[in-house]
Amino acid sequence: MRLRNIRGAKEAVAESTFVVHDPEANRGRWNEFFENHNPLYIEIGMGKGRFVTELAGRYPEINYIGIEKYESVMIRAIAKRKMLTECKNLFFLCCGAEHLSEVFGKGEIARIYLNFSDPWPKERHARRRLTSQGFLDIYRDLLAEDGRIEFKTDNNPLFDFSLEQAEQAGWELCEVTRDLHHSEYMDGNVMTEYEERFSAIGNPISRMVAYPPKR
Ligand SMILES: C[S@@+](CC[C@H](N)C(=O)[O-])C[C@H]1O[C@@H](n2cnc3c(N)ncnc32)[C@H](O)[C@@H]1O
Repeated sequence: MRLRNIRGAKEAVAESTFVVHDPEANRGRWNEFFENHNPLYIEIGMGKGRFVTELAGRYPEINYIGIEKYESVMIRAIAKRKMLTECKNLFFLCCGAEHLSEVFGKGEIARIYLNFSDPWPKERHARRRLTSQGFLDIYRDLLAEDGRIEFKTDNNPLFDFSLEQAEQAGWELCEVTRDLHHSEYMDGNVMTEYEERFSAIGNPISRMVAYPPKR
């Protein structure tokens, strides 16, 4: 994503009541934060937030947290969130995926969405890919029993890499498709901003679901 430095973005994020500013304080206790025992689903790298806001509106019985590293992108998600006036099940964190373990307790997350994650094409940057083994190890720790990750991308090398990494780490793969929009898994699919953009120019969308090996 091309990033522009947007004046006032930092302040707008710091002031937003939709952003959790001390997420570490809720580690292992997100149910208390949401004041219910509903499952917790997170999206890492939510960008402008279309996907997670749409889901939160559709499924009020799920707690959602959208995570985005950059304030200049996060402010677009905050603007969307403001439109959901009745919504109590969606909050945002402005931090990098590298900090997930400081923010969530073991087994606390029921589902992790990774949509159109940055591909980091250079081999020397492979460890930064959000589906690399280092991140998979973190997700494994944080996922609940029967928890899963769901990953979508139009980037074939990144998809191949992700399948390989998950297989090597013993994750169980299912619902794997290299053409989601013409597959049996399309039912209930919620499009992300990138998904709409790339499918509009004819790129097939790949998707996989993966369950971690038992602890
Ligand atoms: C290519 S965009 C995709 C946005 C959105 N998920 C979509 O599908 O439209 C990737 C997003 O992930 C964010 N991002 C990249 N690395 C991240 C990380 N380590 N932690 C959190 N967010 C990250 C980027 O800032 C960017 O907004």
